[in-house]
Amino acid sequence: MALPRTLLITGGAGFIGSNFVHFLSHFHPEVQVVNLDKLTYAGNLKNLEGIPLDGSPTPAGFRHTFVHGDIQDRRLLAELFVRYRFDGVVNFAAESHVDRSLQGADEFIRTNVLGAHELMRVCLEHRCRLLQVSTDEVYGQLMPDEPPFTEESPLRPRNPYAATKAAADLMALSYFESFGLDVVITRSSNNYGPRQFPEKFLPLAITNLLEGRAIPVYGTGENVREWLHVEDNCRGIWMALTRGRSGEVYNLGGRDEVQNIEMARRLCELLGVDPEQGIRFVRDRPGHDLRYALDSSKAKRELGWEPQWELSRGLEELVRWYRENEEWWQEIRSGEYRKYYERHYGEKID
Ligand code: NAD
Ligand code: DAU
Repeated sequence: MALPRTLLITGGAGFIGSNFVHFLSHFHPEVQVVNLDKLTYAGNLKNLEGIPLDGSPTPAGFRHTFVHGDIQDRRLLAELFVRYRFDGVVNFAAESHVDRSLQGADEFIRTNVLGAHELMRVCLEHRCRLLQVSTDEVYGQLMPDEPPFTEESPLRPRNPYAATKAAADLMALSYFESFGLDVVITRSSNNYGPRQFPEKFLPLAITNLLEGRAIPVYGTGENVREWLHVEDNCRGIWMALTRGRSGEVYNLGGRDEVQNIEMARRLCELLGVDPEQGIRFVRDRPGHDLRYALDSSKAKRELGWEPQWELSRGLEELVRWYRENEEWWQEIRSGEYRKYYERHYGEKID
């Protein structure tokens, strides 16, 4: 597509979405952004600190307007499309935590499937490109000796979160085939970086260690995740949005496959904590996928994308960010989240 002038970003107060807004403000300030977010427990306007919310320009000329609302709200979407005439939509809005989807999937189905479908409808009506942000979890799990997933690998999601993401991917591809929806899908591996909600493994581990608590490692800790710095993901999403072929899927993997137990040890080392004290094995997640790994050669070939962050440096920066932004995560950990934590981990330790 031609370079977009006006973008609708959904879920832009969450972890990756807010990093994408910061990415645009630095590298593409000419793009005008409307950010539609429901501000669920995971959405936080503090993630957008330094960026005006009312459309007034930053010194670099970047304009960002925040709209509090739900992607399922058809009338609101219609109004926003008429008012702003978007060239593209990037859909980050989702319920994103696997453990919560195991406790109840209703909200996951509503936002990740029905909400995503509303975006497909409105994009189709306005002939607007949709970038659907998806995940490696749609492919299911790999055994240690299996080759990484390609975009041709079958979809075999194994938890409710992953199933809703796969459902949205399939709906989007069906809209491409049936109606010519201009849609591109990215499937990335596990992201890490600043402003990630502390329910996810790395920020949970770091903030626990900073508070003198142990890292709860599920099961034996042998599960493998492929870590991708959020900035690399944001660059990949931008490249897929602007250079990707319609109806195509692009894997964006970080290359660094690490067992959880190894990751926990590395974080203990970075924070100067004895792993004997800093790691506690707890009851496993049901249906816990053993390993994710992506073959990202298509993104390299077609988009010119490769991850640039090196994991060791990324982890050092990550620890530094959580050290320096204690107020940000303390506010979250002292609120509603504490109840979730006590219930969830209380059950796992009993
Ligand atoms: P997040 O949970 O940090 O943020 C989600 C955001 O969406 C929040 O700001 C929330 O308020 C908003 N939201 C939720 N429901 C909404 C609704 N109905 N309408 C409008 N806004 C709504 O999630 P994240 O980790 O930033 O993930 C963003 C996207 O990337 C998701 O689609 C997720 O599936 C995908 N993804 C995440 C990762 C990862 O490692 N975090 C990896 C691959 C793909
Ligand atoms: O792979 C991409 C996916 O990565 C995204 O689609 C999801 O939105 C995102 O939440 C993430 O899913 P995971 O389930 O892989 O992430 P999580 O941070 O929950 O867990 C990472 C690994 O760490 C996983 O193997 C489970 C394990 N874990 C997690 C938590 C929260 C623990 O051992 N202990 C924990 O307390």
